[in-house]
Amino acid sequence: MNKPSVEKDFAGRRVLITGGMGFIGSNLARRLANLGAEVTLLDSLPAGIGGNPYNISGYEQRLRVRAGDLRDADATADAVRGQELIFNLAGQVGHVQSMEDPLADLDINVRGQLSFLEICRRESPDAKILYGGTRQVYGPPRYLPVDEDHPVNPVDVNAVHKLAAERYHILYHRVYGLRSVVLRMTNVYGPRMRVKDGQNNFLGLWIRQLLHGEEITVYGDGSQARDLLYVEDVVDALLLAALTPGIEGRTFNLGGADSVALLELAKRMIEIHGAGTYRLITFPAGRKKIDIGSFVSDISKIRMDLGWEPITPLGEGLRQTIAYFRQHGEHYW
Ligand SMILES: NC(=O)c1ccc[n+]([C@@H]2O[C@H](COP(=O)([O-])OP(=O)(O)OC[C@H]3O[C@@H](n4cnc5c(N)ncnc54)[C@H](O)[C@@H]3O)[C@@H](O)[C@H]2O)c1
Repeated sequence: MNKPSVEKDFAGRRVLITGGMGFIGSNLARRLANLGAEVTLLDSLPAGIGGNPYNISGYEQRLRVRAGDLRDADATADAVRGQELIFNLAGQVGHVQSMEDPLADLDINVRGQLSFLEICRRESPDAKILYGGTRQVYGPPRYLPVDEDHPVNPVDVNAVHKLAAERYHILYHRVYGLRSVVLRMTNVYGPRMRVKDGQNNFLGLWIRQLLHGEEITVYGDGSQARDLLYVEDVVDALLLAALTPGIEGRTFNLGGADSVALLELAKRMIEIHGAGTYRLITFPAGRKKIDIGSFVSDISKIRMDLGWEPITPLGEGLRQTIAYFRQHGEHYW
């Protein structure tokens, strides 16, 4: 499938990205700036989350940055007013972190999102809103690949909250006509991801271990499958969803190009890096209880209705990611 062309359609468009200094938000912001959009970022850079000012280095003059929290009604109202498109990517991402401090996760991912939607309803009722949902809402798959009709059964606090937030987006569409769309993403990886620790994503920790000459720690027997999704493919999907009419109120899975067992993934990363070792370790008790086993997304719906599919092969995505952190790692470790 050819990459859908969105090149001309964003010039001059007024776009807000909440969580725009984070991993996905900053990659999206850079692309939108290159396409000529007028991009505003709303981000409060709370400690311990993936936001990093270095993510927008070189683009400081082309992006308008508002240092504000989604839960601050005045800051959010100022940011959403007059926007045509809002990519709503602010959030607390860590699953383990959500178990350690569930009320903080609730406050950011539920109260913050509901407050945001209330403000959108008042200040920017015609904006199209793309919400960054997660495949974690499905819990342990009953079948693979997992389509959007698979029952939801979140197994950690963060996933319960992400489910509540996506439901609010759909509810506000149904009741108030907000133009919201939910994209449930699988594990996303790529340049600018958080690699300080494994909080946002196990792969962040693996990259850190690999580039620091430490053993990659693989939980269990490493047979769990993941369909990792390269961040530039996510950006394509977000842009396409923003432009596609008639999909408001709907939910789509976003999955990766290849499915890979984690042990195989560790070996491929070592091969690409040209050095390294891995070690199988027992799941830490807290992790095992919130692990979902193997996961592969069924992306038939978005492929059919939007013409999107991931185009970055895993090997290529890993090469780009490792190369990025070799060069820029000092800003992330
Ligand atoms: N990365 C993934 O693998 C993945 C997978 C599925 C879903 N998602 C979802 O996508 C979204 C973006 O994820 P990411 O990987 O870019 O995470 P990230 O941690 O890199 O970015 C999140 C950003 O939100 C900002 N933020 C957090 N709370 C805020 C608040 N109250 N007000 C303003 N800004 C705030 C942070 O500073 C950060 O810049 C999240 O909602 C996440 O749940 C991510």
